[in-house]
Amino acid sequence: MEKHNTKWFNIECVPHCFKFPQEERPGDAPIPICNKIPVIDLGKSQKNETIKQLLQAGQEFGFFQVINHGIPENVATQTLSTFEEFFNNMTDEEKVHVASRKGWIFTGSQEEVKNGVHLWRDNIKHPCHPLEKCMQSWPDKPATYREVVGRYVAEIRMLSLTILELICQGLGIESGYFNEQSEVQLLSANNYPACPDPSLTLGILKHFDPSLITIIYQGNVSGLQVLVDGKWMCVEAVPNAFVVNIGNQLEIISNGKLRSVEHRAVTNSKEARTSIAIFVNPTPNSIVEPAKVLLNDSNPPLYKSILYKDFINASKAFGAHTDRKRQPDTDLLFPKVWDFAEIKEKLLLVEAEWMDKLPGSNISLRKLYYRFGRARAYEKFKEEFVSEENGRKHAPSLLQYAYLGQ
Ligand code: OGA
Ligand code: NI
Repeated sequence: MEKHNTKWFNIECVPHCFKFPQEERPGDAPIPICNKIPVIDLGKSQKNETIKQLLQAGQEFGFFQVINHGIPENVATQTLSTFEEFFNNMTDEEKVHVASRKGWIFTGSQEEVKNGVHLWRDNIKHPCHPLEKCMQSWPDKPATYREVVGRYVAEIRMLSLTILELICQGLGIESGYFNEQSEVQLLSANNYPACPDPSLTLGILKHFDPSLITIIYQGNVSGLQVLVDGKWMCVEAVPNAFVVNIGNQLEIISNGKLRSVEHRAVTNSKEARTSIAIFVNPTPNSIVEPAKVLLNDSNPPLYKSILYKDFINASKAFGAHTDRKRQPDTDLLFPKVWDFAEIKEKLLLVEAEWMDKLPGSNISLRKLYYRFGRARAYEKFKEEFVSEENGRKHAPSLLQYAYLGQ
């Protein structure tokens, strides 16, 4: 009983710090279920038909659901119950304690996402591939956590590779293209407690996933909403289905053919909702770029090459209190005038030198490049750091001048 009372959400009205500004609140208007988002049967023998459906769904909605995927229903339901138990049985104090002790990213009602406003959720994130390597750092309560979640993530890995292989075939890129792009797997489980006024709160702000693909299990309670033609629509909770969405990286690799679409999670007043998202991600140093075979004179690259870790840094996708609403700013992330991979090393050297000369500066050449493109970066650099009289405001190095002036 006492435990129960310490929960942050066990309250009768929504505290101010959970109320989003008017323009971000879900509001009172009912949000319809989108019956157009395809539910794709992976058990069909006609693989070509399945591939066509996957591609079409990825193109039109950036979202689809899969059924007959081969994962036994009890694997998913047991995992969901394990997370429910995990979230329900710990007090807020325990959660914070366990999180800091174990070093996972774990956020509860402490999670402030924007201008002091908090999300209406508890969340745990941890790596989940390769299993042997990361399992030791997982929670050990409930006692079955590692076994149950371990089986789940192994199944989801296989499912994600199957889906990626079908997408590969559909796009016409060589089999195995996604090997490096799918090497990292992150689990993020959410618990959205019942909320006294869901019109004011959000479980997750509107965002894009910075993944290759994401696979979500949401049990029987819906709450995931997707932008369809500029309007919010609910993704139906289909029994024993997984929701799959195209992440930013697959959009880039497919040269925009498949779309990464904004989505959010809302709360409801009747019951708590638990969802398990698994993000399939590239390794930090892999270069993400439109697949060469998709490019020709009439299909020029729409995105520049970028290292996955630079994408993440630029979009702040995993940063503390990331404002996920703003990501990704396409101008910032996909500079069309300059190839990042090509000059990255040189740039890093220049930057290191600059940082040395301007201790405490958080200005980065890369940021200027990202933001303004190559030509404008130089102007901007001069505007901000070079004064007319003595040529230098902050004493940046000559090398930088030389470099930028090229
Ligand atoms: C996410 C996400 C949706 C949900 O974790 O990125 O979009 O339904 N989750 O919890
Ligand atoms: Ni998401």
